[in-house]
Amino acid sequence: MAQVDLRFVHISDLHILADPDRRQYGVDTGAILRQAIPLLNSLRPDFVVAGGDLSGDGSEDSYRRLQQILQPLAAPIHLLMGNHDDRTKFRRIFHPHATPTADPVEAAFEVGGMRFVLLDSSLPGKEEGAFSADQLRWLDRELGASAGRLTWVFLHHQPLPIYVRWLDQIGLSNPEAFLATLACHPHVAAVAYGHVHQARSWRYGSALFIGLPALAFQFSPISQEPEVTQDSPGFRVIEIAGGEMRHWLYFLDGRIVSEPRLSAIPVYVR
Ligand SMILES: [Fe+2]
Ligand SMILES: [Fe+2]
Repeated sequence: MAQVDLRFVHISDLHILADPDRRQYGVDTGAILRQAIPLLNSLRPDFVVAGGDLSGDGSEDSYRRLQQILQPLAAPIHLLMGNHDDRTKFRRIFHPHATPTADPVEAAFEVGGMRFVLLDSSLPGKEEGAFSADQLRWLDRELGASAGRLTWVFLHHQPLPIYVRWLDQIGLSNPEAFLATLACHPHVAAVAYGHVHQARSWRYGSALFIGLPALAFQFSPISQEPEVTQDSPGFRVIEIAGGEMRHWLYFLDGRIVSEPRLSAIPVYVR
């Protein structure tokens, strides 16, 4: 078996609340995250990305609780903003020595020769997401600087429709400019998003566009109105080994699911 060069984990939609007694759709999101951490540690990832909706109520106390629940996590974790997050309150707790601005929370880093770009698609006060022209210029510069290196881009909102009407109405509202930026950078291997609370895999252009289950409650892939299912919380594990990229979905009920083969889809025009 090829030696694993890099292993990272994408978790998303933790929806942690300030009040530990409150439930969302009958679910205790704090307990779910606590349950996930030993499994995450057992996988010994190089790092973890948490893809937004870290908080379910956008409060400082929810971020305090999140920080406390994450303490036993052995791997570095990178945190994205989602529509339920609050940039300023997040910064107050996770970056207490920096000015708690409401600017987008963005970053780029390199591990094992691969680039990882973390975007902030959240729009304060809105369910749907968007990128400003400034953010897209920053993305274009970042991707230009990493040309030739395998790159993963993370954001919260789905940039392509998943054909669930109510979720598509609150996806990325200006995907064309984002997709046009990506099209200039074919070294982007994957665009990984949360928000949809269900697994999705598409190939679009040269990249995979992959959504993942929430580490909380799941949304029905069939119902056109909001409907929560009894499906298990889960996350995605990605391994680079011998020049190949493989990924699995891990569910907290013990299932490990190899990702389906990806097929090409027609170009989408909204
Ligand atoms: Fe969410
Ligand atoms: Fe979301």
